[in-house]
Amino acid sequence: MFDIQKESKSLTPIVISNLSLLLGKTKILDNINCKINNKSIFAILGPNGAGKSMFLKTINGLVGVKSGKINFNSREINEYIRKEIALVFQKPILLRRSVLENMQFVLEKKNKLSNFEIMKLLQRVGLDTFKDKPARLLSGGEQQRLSLARALLINPSLLLLDEPTANLDPYSLNLIEEIILDENKKGKTIILTTHDMGQAKRLAKEILFFNKGRLLEQTKAINFFKKPKTKEAQSYINGKILL
Ligand SMILES: Nc1ncnc2c1ncn2[C@@H]1O[C@H](COP(=O)(O)OP(=O)(O)OP(=O)(O)O)[C@@H](O)[C@H]1O
Ligand SMILES: [Mg+2]
Repeated sequence: MFDIQKESKSLTPIVISNLSLLLGKTKILDNINCKINNKSIFAILGPNGAGKSMFLKTINGLVGVKSGKINFNSREINEYIRKEIALVFQKPILLRRSVLENMQFVLEKKNKLSNFEIMKLLQRVGLDTFKDKPARLLSGGEQQRLSLARALLINPSLLLLDEPTANLDPYSLNLIEEIILDENKKGKTIILTTHDMGQAKRLAKEILFFNKGRLLEQTKAINFFKKPKTKEAQSYINGKILL
């Protein structure tokens, strides 16, 4: 059935054209052109400093676009679109409050979910028993899981995850990967960065490979891992340094 509300909510296709970003004298993003054309899972790969995190921050509007364009289903970013995007940072940013209060803070603004539902989300990321613990005392991996749960509270249609499992043990990693697959099945578009090639293979349908601020290729994951198009990506997945 055609769901007009869902349809008007859709942020895809996201079309990025001639996007460049200059900070000081350094070109952080260099003429990026790409299309996120369906509600799939996309993985951004590339070495440290390639521009992956900055790219996610430009998509969610945290870093203003001065050169180039990002269009969401033919619309530029606005307050409404911003509310449909959640970015989970590489380094979690949490309030100096309890786990539960960190969740409720989002709830207060949205006033949509009950505490019961918050607890269900905390349970999903394995943090329900920590609800009264100060969030700052959580371990790195626990903080990362809390950040994801908080992002899911607003039920965004576009989920940007910056190295979502970088600090996680194998059990938590599985847990989070299952949540990512599940949220995608429910209709969310997911763009994540990772240095874990196994994770990119398990989750992503398409790979965007970045190097030195440039998007060198956008390739179906199955083809990327068989044979990437560029020499740089080939070196990267073989663990060689990129010059
Ligand atoms: N506020 C800033 N001012 C100047 N340069 C910055 C700023 N933020 C980031 N950079 C630079 O931009 C480049 C891209 O950074 P970014 O964080 O996007 O890399 P990344 O691909 O996410 O790397 P990593 O894999 O290490 O997370 C880096 O060289 C970084 O030093
Ligand atoms: Mg990064």
